Amino acid sequence: MRKHIVAGNWKLNNDLAETQALIASLKGQIITSDAEVMIAPTFTNLWHANEAVKDNDIEVIAQNMHFAENGAYTGEVNASMLKSIGIHTVILGHSERRAYYNETDESLVQKVDAALKHNMRVIFCFGEELLDRTSGNHESVVKNQIKKALFHLDASAFKNIVLAYEPVWAIGTGETASPEQAQDMHKFIRETLANKYDKTIADHVSILYGGSVKPNNAQEIFSKPDVDGGLIGGAALKAEDFFAIVNAF
Ligand code: PGA
Repeated sequence: MRKHIVAGNWKLNNDLAETQALIASLKGQIITSDAEVMIAPTFTNLWHANEAVKDNDIEVIAQNMHFAENGAYTGEVNASMLKSIGIHTVILGHSERRAYYNETDESLVQKVDAALKHNMRVIFCFGEELLDRTSGNHESVVKNQIKKALFHLDASAFKNIVLAYEPVWAIGTGETASPEQAQDMHKFIRETLANKYDKTIADHVSILYGGSVKPNNAQEIFSKPDVDGGLIGGAALKAEDFFAIVNAF
């Protein structure tokens, strides 16, 4: 049925030598769970990382991409470029990109469409701010994010979409949503999909939780029925911690 996925988002960390060293340690770990394992190094290290994991059950994925086919977009990288070096999955809409680079649900539509057009798999991130949570608006905020960025898609597109619920207040803060809060939101997201599309689509989409997942809390979060894995930041930078999370399933 739904795939279990644990993806490590390395963010702005690890130069080439550090990337090689971390991958060497990752290759020394044993996957004992059924989770698909992904790592997202920086653009400059994607090619090397992808070469280095060949013959291992680790997929190298991108942290972002531009929507254009080509043109005057200094500093950008697009789907064809990623695919030309063997990258088939991209994270889109991470809250740090929304906060620091003005990405919005409306502008993310273009990126989602471009990635799907190129047959890439998208890990689409969204989640509420602390104020949305404390004022009780978290569900409507999340519903709106999904609706604006994804609900123009045909149902068939969802075979290439993974959702990542990442409450902004839990990212890099050491504070996690409780397993119950994660479960409640994931269930709500699945219901939202079922209402727009149908139950089969909703049941097949993997929904990851992200926000301060660590070896000591992964198992409890992953034990919830609607949590299909995690998007891991800080704890993905140490091979033992990352694999403790991978093997928490
Ligand atoms: P964190 O980051 O695990 O360090 O909180 C998660 C993310 O940003 O995807």
